[in-house]
Amino acid sequence: MLAVSSTPMKQFHVTTFGCQMNQHDSERMKGMLTSLGYSEVEQRDQADLILFNTCSIRENADNRFISHLGEAKRLKSENPERIVGVGGCWAQSVKDEVFRRFPFVDVAFGPGQIHRLAEFLNSDSLSAQGYFEFEEFSGDLPSHRERQFQGWLQISQGCNCACSYCIVPSTRGREESRDPDLLITEAERLAVDGVRELTLLGQNVNSYGRDLPVESRIRFSDLLRRVDLVEGIERVRYMSPHPKDMREDVIDAHVELKSLCEHIHLPLQSGSSPILKRMRRTYSRERYMDRVSMIRERLPDCGITTDIIVGFPGETEADFAQTLEVVEQVGYDQAFTFNYSPRRGTLAAEMDDQVPHAVKKERMSRLIDVVQRRARERAQRFVGRSLEVLVEGPSRNDPTRLRGRSRHSKAVNFEGTALPGQFVEVEVTSATSQTLTGSERLLSRISV
Ligand code: 5AD
Ligand code: SF4
Repeated sequence: MLAVSSTPMKQFHVTTFGCQMNQHDSERMKGMLTSLGYSEVEQRDQADLILFNTCSIRENADNRFISHLGEAKRLKSENPERIVGVGGCWAQSVKDEVFRRFPFVDVAFGPGQIHRLAEFLNSDSLSAQGYFEFEEFSGDLPSHRERQFQGWLQISQGCNCACSYCIVPSTRGREESRDPDLLITEAERLAVDGVRELTLLGQNVNSYGRDLPVESRIRFSDLLRRVDLVEGIERVRYMSPHPKDMREDVIDAHVELKSLCEHIHLPLQSGSSPILKRMRRTYSRERYMDRVSMIRERLPDCGITTDIIVGFPGETEADFAQTLEVVEQVGYDQAFTFNYSPRRGTLAAEMDDQVPHAVKKERMSRLIDVVQRRARERAQRFVGRSLEVLVEGPSRNDPTRLRGRSRHSKAVNFEGTALPGQFVEVEVTSATSQTLTGSERLLSRISV
């Protein structure tokens, strides 16, 4: 059981539309929610989390779907604490429009971003009307009806930061770290159940431990060391660190620990120091870039991904240009981009220089261009190399091929015969901004 505090178990309800592939995705989504301590309910009106997994553009005109959403709206107005999420292909096709047309929707995610739902439910993202872009289908979630080779471990709850756009501090309270011994026992149990890739979750994972009683107090990097020793866990990831707490010891842990993946998610939010100040992020552009340099120096091959907010109140064209500059300089492997959306009760929502929607939209499209171009350029470093891939299943676009993820968190589509949950070596022959393509090196299967 992963629930952290004494809060009662949250309940979810998922409605699935469309094809087999979507049914399968919903199973995976349920598996992930169960491992986060949610339980499924039959009736939508009993759920704290109401999800729709949509399929294709048909949904757009589908009255059935609209009436389902209408019910969700009513339930949300009865209890505003409820979370309404819309995922799948329809969400992907309309993107931000979901929020314009259905303002009661809290989160939208394309078919490739189910795994981001975990973060959304556990972290900052709860505050965002966020749309997670930039990814093709990955479906890297376990389903409770399938073999679980990917697992999640919530290491803390709450957040001691005070980011001015974020609703988490007011809704989730002070940071509370879970006892390290309990976490290790949980990780061992998951490993026995077949989990090979474990993702540690928290609002601000690298401030883990500071609130623990002295006798059990350890740092995040110490926790990583302990998880690394758990037999059977071959890959360790974590979501999300805060740049202000991204210290040498964590970066060194990436160098030292065999299981810790070559991927760091380092949320930028903005490249402009004045905007970062208004966001209360407590780091400047320079300090952020120092962290990036440290990562690049010690882990040259590490995948770096980020979150960026466009159109924060008061963001001028010059501020935005600085964000573009940082994206250009860093060359992220992937970026999750959000139009700023005011959340009730937050400082930023009260700021009077809100940016018009049309301006956000225009900036967003320029941002996406730079993000994608740089991601494509960075991805070329993988071409000609052989990468360890954890197989997740058939490729969504071409079921004769397989898909999986590299340690850098790159989606890989490849020809091969391996089964979900296996590690294989894939020779990469080409790379786009989002996907690597290649073929399985036979006779080189790493483990089952
Ligand atoms: N508006 C837009 N994006 C937001 N995020 C959090 N709050 C908001 C908001 N009010 C984004 C941040 C965070 C990600 C998970 O969600 O970029 O890192
Ligand atoms: Fe919110 Fe900032 Fe805390 Fe993240 S670090 S949960 S954005 S207050």
